[in-house]
Amino acid sequence: MYSDENEAAMKRVIDFCKKYGVAAQGLQLGHAGRKGSTLPPAVGGKPLKPEEGAWQTIAPSPLPYAPDWHVPREMTKSDIARVREEFVQATRRAVRIGYDLVEMHAGHGYLGHEFLSPISNKRTDEYGGKLENRMRFPLETFAAMRAAWPDDKPMGVRISVTDWVEGGWDVDQSVVFAKELKKLGCDYIDISSGALDPRQQVPFAHGYNIPFAAKVKKESGLPTMCVGLITSARECEDFIASGKVDFVVLARGMMWNPRFAWHAAEELGAEAPYAPKYMACHPKMRPQISRIGQRPPRQSTGSRVSRARFPCCDQTRSANARSPPRSGARGCCSRASSRALAPAQRRMNGGPRRSADSRRRSASSSVNA
Ligand SMILES: Cc1cc2nc3c(=O)[nH]c(=O)nc-3n(C[C@H](O)[C@H](O)[C@H](O)COP(=O)(O)O)c2cc1C
Repeated sequence: MYSDENEAAMKRVIDFCKKYGVAAQGLQLGHAGRKGSTLPPAVGGKPLKPEEGAWQTIAPSPLPYAPDWHVPREMTKSDIARVREEFVQATRRAVRIGYDLVEMHAGHGYLGHEFLSPISNKRTDEYGGKLENRMRFPLETFAAMRAAWPDDKPMGVRISVTDWVEGGWDVDQSVVFAKELKKLGCDYIDISSGALDPRQQVPFAHGYNIPFAAKVKKESGLPTMCVGLITSARECEDFIASGKVDFVVLARGMMWNPRFAWHAAEELGAEAPYAPKYMACHPKMRPQISRIGQRPPRQSTGSRVSRARFPCCDQTRSANARSPPRSGARGCCSRASSRALAPAQRRMNGGPRRSADSRRRSASSSVNA
């Protein structure tokens, strides 16, 4: 989000989404620091060669991510001020575009994280050394961005809660960072982990960041989001209902199934807002099919199956289908369905404004979508 061209292109996308959809839109802003000047991850992510257009990277200290990566130039005070201002300018662009949420990236080994971690930050000035100094750049940047972002719109920060390397950034430092962010008007902290140092040993498992997120939430009191191998609706519900975290994020799970949020709502018996043009696909609009989590209707066995006819809409369904549609469509399926979907439809038709709290929740949950 660094140029007028980017801003215009993203405005076109977000205007389109808001015209046809109902989801809140979030934008994550980051700077790659010493992990810049690489091929895109999807094509290997290796550092660019000079003939591929490599550029000079910058970082808190002149330490490469790995031995065969670019050696960054140590940032001067004026670099620090310039990059901070660029984050502010990008935030202003997000305001003009009409985003609902902004998240500052201070994780995954990118610039903010490089300042936080004692592994990548060996500075001897006020931006390095003790924890208070290592937090200075991301905290100053967050404060400047927060001042440029409307008070009534949520803004959060993503961190890597631990480097998974001895002597690196860890959960106790993350708690201190979260407390400082809270004082600056941060609305939530988004917990991921790792990606600063290739020596990391990550014990990948379902929801592997949840225990860290629970600790940060408990000790900082900041609403907490968590990502990392969370895949099922039941897991999401359990993590949130247990009070360990306030939000969950799915990245690859959502790429695998972009309709995850709708399906999860259906499985957990909740209503999700729908883009009007997609309303027709909701199972409630098709009472003849089985609902997620229910047994499928028995297959027709030919002439012995009797058919029940709805008198009002002239549709039929198998009389031996085990479960009637959950909307209770004993008579007209479409009438019962539209009754059940009325709240969602009201929201889509510009119904009553949602509370700041509920806006915050849905904006946050879509940030990784
Ligand atoms: C294709 C792809 C792109 C990603 N881009 C970002 C990104 O821009 N910012 C970010 O914080 N994390 C990004 N991530 C990391 C994810 O947000 C997440 O932390 C990680 O994939 C683990 O969560 P998961 O198990 O749900 O995928 C990306 C992941 C993938 C697979």
